[in-house]
Amino acid sequence: MCGIVGYIGERQVKPVLLNCLYRLEYRGYDSCGIAVLEGDLAVYKDAVRVKVLDETLPQLIGGRAGIGHTRWATHGEPSQVNAHPHCDCTGKIAVVHNGVISNFQKLRRQLASEGHNFISETDTEVIPHLIEKYYEGDLEKAVAAALREVEGSYAIVVLRADEPKLVVARKDSPLIIAIGDRENFVASDVPAILDYTSRVIYLEDDDIGVVTSDNVKVSQHGVAVARKEHKISWSVKDAQKAGYEHFMLKEIHEQPKVIRDTIGGYISATEPIASLAMAGDTGLEDMLILACGTSYHAALVGKYMMEELLRVAVRTELASEFSYCGQTSAGSRVLVITQSGETADALKAIKKLKEEGCRVIVITNVVGSTASRIADQIVYTRAGPEISVAATKSFVAQLMALYWLALPYAKIDIRRLDSLVMGLRQLPGKVQRVLDNEAVISEYAQQLSKYENVFFIGRGVNFPVALEGALKLKEISYIHAEGYAAGELKHGPFALLGSDTPVVAIVAQDNTYEAMLTNIKEVKARRSPVIALVEEGNEEVKEVADSVITVPQVDVIFSPVVNTVVLQLLAYYAAEQRGCPIDFPRNLAKSVTVE
Ligand code: F6R
Repeated sequence: MCGIVGYIGERQVKPVLLNCLYRLEYRGYDSCGIAVLEGDLAVYKDAVRVKVLDETLPQLIGGRAGIGHTRWATHGEPSQVNAHPHCDCTGKIAVVHNGVISNFQKLRRQLASEGHNFISETDTEVIPHLIEKYYEGDLEKAVAAALREVEGSYAIVVLRADEPKLVVARKDSPLIIAIGDRENFVASDVPAILDYTSRVIYLEDDDIGVVTSDNVKVSQHGVAVARKEHKISWSVKDAQKAGYEHFMLKEIHEQPKVIRDTIGGYISATEPIASLAMAGDTGLEDMLILACGTSYHAALVGKYMMEELLRVAVRTELASEFSYCGQTSAGSRVLVITQSGETADALKAIKKLKEEGCRVIVITNVVGSTASRIADQIVYTRAGPEISVAATKSFVAQLMALYWLALPYAKIDIRRLDSLVMGLRQLPGKVQRVLDNEAVISEYAQQLSKYENVFFIGRGVNFPVALEGALKLKEISYIHAEGYAAGELKHGPFALLGSDTPVVAIVAQDNTYEAMLTNIKEVKARRSPVIALVEEGNEEVKEVADSVITVPQVDVIFSPVVNTVVLQLLAYYAAEQRGCPIDFPRNLAKSVTVE
């Protein structure tokens, strides 16, 4: 989604802003722009990629302070006028904004009646006009007065002609200030500034900051507040492609390490089980898990796994639906899974849960993210920065966190528990073996890439894997894909089966096995080609499916991990074959900061 950058210091501002914008491209955008302070303000923007902006900017742009933005259209189509930065009537005030101003129409009417001239369709444009209205020589005060009128969510950076400073503010949309040596940066997320510094301050809701090259001042409602500085452990290398064609492929290949790092952060070598338990806990009672998209699929895997191991009832809800259906009781414990920690639907759900007196445990990959700061308890995954829009390694890391949360409370005998802990430790090697089979998987992907519709089916703990396989395929290859519980196909989707609609069947060696075999036969009887994922050593499925991709043997509880990696590779190579922009699929954004 939209990205924000800002710089003030001794460097030439143009290359710094462009470099930061390149680093934000992964978030997904349709337009971009910069405003630089060269005495006056100069604004350059259009509905183009950063590279095109870079190539068309005048060579000689001076200035040591500026702001930049990548826009993901919400109000008004992608166009030059709708791109950020937006200015006031005088052209002296420029603003970049992430979020949504919900009362912008009312503000716009009112400002227009006072003589302000609007040129864009955006909600953002009211902000520079409000600042203009309240400006009496003090930019910080004018920003504060403007924001008092504004409803909705925002992270903004404001630049005014002749004033060498950046004024920043946030509410319900992330914003950081990054500290350098006689220079400072502003960004909506960390990868933007990793080339320059790893020292970061996370702004809180209602903070207003004034940033100069050698000072940062933050206040709330006019009172100065101290905000802690954090050291970011991710390196620039983590956020680069490292020789891979796409971030997605690199991130798929990082998964053995991600599993090792995430599990390593939880389990000590000497006391594996004792160190799993959360301090002071006696057990996990019935559970609610909330999430969106791929993280929701992790939640569903968690449900099947916890219900089996813990024998408790686990409810899952889409965070985006929770406002309409969520019933909780005060004091109950709720798990929220969000890779970015910034998804608007997840944050809204967390706020509702907290108002209702629930205790919220957040599983997130981003230290310092909004979700991590409002949670009662945080479980960090250690996937490193995930740049590709399609979630891969963060999903597998979420599964590790769920196993870790569940295992200490498993109502199973000690021998099974020992074998599960050992199985967890062996998972990186098993995933590596899936990756070693990449060439075979890519051949099947090439076959799939020729179709326009694909079904994925699974049962039990592999039903969510079918959903995830379908989501990955549709989002990056644009092939229409549906994930189904295998038993549900005959309740309607059978009408769509035929020789032009292949089915990917995930077959696990558990109590779902016989039923899956029957389902494959039913599908074959409707002439759909079947690609089956089966455990190594299985000969039976080869007899009924058209093709078989084998996965290493693991406890069925861990089968979602190895199966998902196969489906990620299938999606990747199908998209590659179709020439799709894999890391930045159309219309999508990495972190979805609007409802
Ligand atoms: C799909 C994908 C999305 C995210 C969803 C939730 O590949 O990445 O479906 O999983 O937007 O994002 P987080 O986990 O950041 O809340």
